[in-house]
Amino acid sequence: IEQEIKEMTNFDYYAPTKVVFGKGTEDQAGDLVREQRATKVLVHYGSGSVKRSGLLERIYQSLEQAGIPFVSLGGVVPNPRLSLVYQGIELCKKEHVDFILAVGGGSVIDSGKAIGYGVANEGDVWDFYERKRVAAGCLPIGVVLTIAAAGSEMSNSSVITNEDGWLKRGYGNDCCRARFAVMDPELTMTLPKYQTASGCVDIMMHTMERYFNQEENLDLTDGFSEHLIRTVMENARILMKEPDNYKARAEVMWAGSLSHNGLTGCGTAGGDWASHQLEHELGGMFDVAHGAGLSAVWGSWARYVYKECLGRFKKFAINVMNVEEVGSDEEIALKGIEAMEKFYHSIGMPTSIKELGLELSDADIEKLADQCCDACGGHKGSAKVLYREDIVKIYKMAR
Ligand code: NZQ
Ligand code: ZN
Repeated sequence: IEQEIKEMTNFDYYAPTKVVFGKGTEDQAGDLVREQRATKVLVHYGSGSVKRSGLLERIYQSLEQAGIPFVSLGGVVPNPRLSLVYQGIELCKKEHVDFILAVGGGSVIDSGKAIGYGVANEGDVWDFYERKRVAAGCLPIGVVLTIAAAGSEMSNSSVITNEDGWLKRGYGNDCCRARFAVMDPELTMTLPKYQTASGCVDIMMHTMERYFNQEENLDLTDGFSEHLIRTVMENARILMKEPDNYKARAEVMWAGSLSHNGLTGCGTAGGDWASHQLEHELGGMFDVAHGAGLSAVWGSWARYVYKECLGRFKKFAINVMNVEEVGSDEEIALKGIEAMEKFYHSIGMPTSIKELGLELSDADIEKLADQCCDACGGHKGSAKVLYREDIVKIYKMAR
């Protein structure tokens, strides 16, 4: 009998970011910027948490001590807006900024990356997010991370929301990868519980999106991925009770970077990413926290696709969710999905769009599905390739 033997998939792995990890490392920000030979810096930040915690003041001091002139621009919001990106580009050009220091989470880093593209390239920066052009470069970026979640501190991606139409679009290019990322787990202790939990969901999802695919996966990548997801679950549970647990903060923070720097995607031919596509449209239209949006749709996505990717779902159930290996493959796979939803609930995350606080009409769903298809060129997914009608069905299941 002739058996089809699948070939291992080739892959690239590129993780150029210098990581400076641990207590008090934010005080090295000035030296790290100087090491990059920056002459004028834009300090970019969010809506106030870094002021309240005193972090911003410490970063300014660190830059002053290193003798680096800077200007600053705050006001980035979750689901970061294109209008502030335009303001940042103008400011950088006027002030001859040659380095961007993002102090915050995924939204601040992504906004910084977009500003970096806008300064280094002529024309409208939104073109890149619309996939009309490819960026030829980006201003160098450094990061002081304040939330473990999006993984933007080591990823090649930036996600921006255009208020004109409320379109949330991602753009990936290796030239935006941060030169350095300062990660002090202590800085994440001021996060509200909901943001900690939402971040943990996102971290797990970045590996799960890569895990569910139709490729001949590497055992090493699988083992690493399964352990990463279990580690985040275990420590998320601890953080719900002990938000100041440094060890748990550290485990989650490091997992956040490794989950989205490409490591758990080696040999997976890219992965699935349909859940992210479904969430991005919800986030753009309804401004929800990204991780919470993901947990709201994941279970419905999983139930819709699992039969076509049964081996992976079974492996996931057993190795990640500790499901006993009894019953049919389908039963085991479904128990794994249920167990993940139970975990989401246990950390206060939604497993439906209603629990996310939204009531979607049929017309809303049609619009979301149209936007998904616009963003991904008509179809998305690897576990199962989804087309418009599939996307509509999943949103309806998740509603
Ligand atoms: O703006 P401030 O006041 O800082 O408040 C933020 C914000 O409200 C707050 N926060 C952050 N650090 C804090 C804190 N509050 C108290 N103490 C701290 N230490 O938390 C809220 C969320 O911040 P945000 O930066 O939005 O979080 P996250 O890192 O989850 O980023 C989400 C964005 O990243 C995108 C998402 O779609 C979303 O737009 N993503 C980016 C990716 C990438 N570039 O690789 C990949 C992801 O899949 C994701 O799509
Ligand atoms: Zn994500």
